[in-house]
Amino acid sequence: MNGDEYALDTPLLREFVAGVRAAIAEADSPEVACDAIRPRFAELLADDEWLPARFRESAAEGGMGGGIGTWLLFRAGDGSLSLVSLVVPPGAQTPIHDHLAWGLVGLYRGTQDEDVYAERDGGFELVERRALGPGDFYALLPPRDDIHRVRTTSAETSVSIHLLTNDIGCIWRHTFDAESGERSPFRSGYVNSDCGAPD
Ligand SMILES: [Fe+2]
Repeated sequence: MNGDEYALDTPLLREFVAGVRAAIAEADSPEVACDAIRPRFAELLADDEWLPARFRESAAEGGMGGGIGTWLLFRAGDGSLSLVSLVVPPGAQTPIHDHLAWGLVGLYRGTQDEDVYAERDGGFELVERRALGPGDFYALLPPRDDIHRVRTTSAETSVSIHLLTNDIGCIWRHTFDAESGERSPFRSGYVNSDCGAPD
């Protein structure tokens, strides 16, 4: 892919992405970059206006199943950064999955439970459960806390915002079966954009 793609092209989003890129360029580790990005990410989650209704809709054909939609908002032409909204209908949950890149994930609408898993003895064990409300967010810093599952606990559809340092909808990652430890190749895709030809 050539050049950046703004599926949602607004001055606010361009300013957000520029700020994130500056923070990453100045940081000497993902931890430091995450801390530097936190204030502007919190601002985005607190802003009621910037995300149009179409990016908050569930998707019958989404790659996560269960009507879950992964909407592209922005991705870098070199695959180094993406911003997406993940829409999970009431009662639906994602498969257990990984991300393979560091970033920040926060809740924008609704409430979710997040189950964090760790690989143990050939299987995957639930190591933490977090309840999230609007404005709550967390850092993904693989390999720590990279494997999780999220479930909407509100009567309304939940919308979470993911800022990740890869092209999260298009990279091949994994889903996991907690009991057998089986991992399967997985690509979520985007509701509103293609992944292009395979590498
Ligand atoms: Fe996730």
